[in-house]
Amino acid sequence: METVHTLELKEVTKKMKGENVVNHLSFGVRKGEIFGLLGPNGAGKTTTIRMIVGLISMSGGEILVNGLDIRKNYEKAMEQIGAIVENPQMYDYLTGYKNLMQYARIMPGVTRERIDEVVKLVELEQAIHKKVKTYSLGMRQRLGVAQALLHRPSLLILDEPTNGLDPQGMHDLRNYLRLLADQGTSIVVSSHILAEMELMCDRVAVIQNGKLIRIDNVTNVTDQAQARVHFLLQGSLNDAKSLLAEHFPEKTAEVSDKELIVEANTTQEIGDINKRLVEAGFLVYGIQLKKKTLEERFLEMTGKGGDLNEVSVAGQ
Ligand SMILES: Nc1ncnc2c1ncn2[C@@H]1O[C@H](COP(=O)(O)OP(=O)(O)OP(=O)(O)O)[C@@H](O)[C@H]1O
Ligand SMILES: [Mg+2]
Repeated sequence: METVHTLELKEVTKKMKGENVVNHLSFGVRKGEIFGLLGPNGAGKTTTIRMIVGLISMSGGEILVNGLDIRKNYEKAMEQIGAIVENPQMYDYLTGYKNLMQYARIMPGVTRERIDEVVKLVELEQAIHKKVKTYSLGMRQRLGVAQALLHRPSLLILDEPTNGLDPQGMHDLRNYLRLLADQGTSIVVSSHILAEMELMCDRVAVIQNGKLIRIDNVTNVTDQAQARVHFLLQGSLNDAKSLLAEHFPEKTAEVSDKELIVEANTTQEIGDINKRLVEAGFLVYGIQLKKKTLEERFLEMTGKGGDLNEVSVAGQ
């Protein structure tokens, strides 16, 4: 049976001033998954999110929320989404709690218990009865998430949620997003910061100029990606390199300092290479496995000098 994605985009396109700022974008977000949209400034992340939450229309394509076409079942689909796009509107002169009450009034079925529950989730209990104008950026952001969650959406969408958060704030955000995801909420977050997406998401869609470049599974990247195996040797590294070229012609080995570096992905391969080296008389005094990070994969995939290098990899 085909699984229904919480969110599905099919060939979604947005034309602005004659240009496709979102260009035939397709992806699906599974139940309980944290899905990242990663791309440099102007890639089309916010435009995509604005279409999903119905703030702007699509020029082409289809968006489904739990199988419902947002154009045909607009209200039903929107009931299932909670979102923060740009700065959520808050009444500064009211307390956080009163703000949530205001919102609850227009949302059917939101009880005081539910308000307390979301306040607890985003850890805003201490400040909830203070006026929003006294809130820090991080506290405002928590209040925004609380508001987006009040009606128990099955899909939570946050555009650049870590903007302006300190390390503790980011850590807390990651924790409560994971908690929500574990309870079955599907979450879409956008960012131009690779390292952040890697920590926060299960899968990351890389977007450039409105197009999907690829979707990467974050856990696979660290668990199953090809590892670089560093053999620490005594003896001529160049001889060792030639030996490998002879016996493992499909492998490319690099020589650096005291190491011979080979890409390998099975323990059998690593064992075989080690055996060859030892049998040929090299003293192998260390074998280190260095898995490729998402960052390395990302740079490999986009190529040095490509536009995607604008994406910050250092958290800037
Ligand atoms: N109202 C508009 N009219 C014309 N072009 C627009 C409009 N809004 C956005 N664009 C263009 O669409 C492209 C994508 O913008 P978008 O805001 O979706 O990017 P983004 O990925 O969210 O970037 P950022 O990381 O800066 O938030 C940009 O080239 C932008 O100039
Ligand atoms: Mg944006």
